Amino acid sequence: MRRAACPGSYDPPTRGHLDVIRRTAAIFDEVHVLVGSNPAKSALFSPEERVSLLAEALSDVPGVRTSIFSGLIVDYCRDHEIGTVVKGIRGPIDLDYESQMAQLNRAMTGLETLFLPAAPEWAAVSSSLVRDIARMGGGFDQFVTPEIAARTRERLAAGS
Ligand code: PNS
Repeated sequence: MRRAACPGSYDPPTRGHLDVIRRTAAIFDEVHVLVGSNPAKSALFSPEERVSLLAEALSDVPGVRTSIFSGLIVDYCRDHEIGTVVKGIRGPIDLDYESQMAQLNRAMTGLETLFLPAAPEWAAVSSSLVRDIARMGGGFDQFVTPEIAARTRERLAAGS
């Protein structure tokens, strides 16, 4: 079985994330969508909430499993017999950062990384910009699913 991992913070999942995961699922038999925490980022949703947002948005895609992970991606992949990480690349900054991780992951355990170019319509979209726009009352609906837009508004309303 060909397995891939798509790790990310997904806070919240954007249409760009969902596009990369769907494209990965078209290539691999099983895709593990892994919600990690980046301590440098202030979270809007808990990891459990992000897993449920992703699972709902991807419920029609066969072979997708969504879960939380902590620790190193190489350890998760070794334990789950996953040989490939797939990452979407929006531009040179992503490429630079992701290339470093890809090289170190390969050096550690042989874990390979494949880069998918972001679809042009989502190449400027990031979770952090969606959070900023949402926090300041801007229109962000086009960048996420209707369910995720609604949950984001609810969360911000509850916190204000
Ligand atoms: O949304 P992000 O910021 O791209 O997601 C980052 C995350 C949490 C998926 C990433 O930092 C990660 O994989 N962390 C796990 C620790 C790890 O394996 N780091 C790479 C070492 S080379």
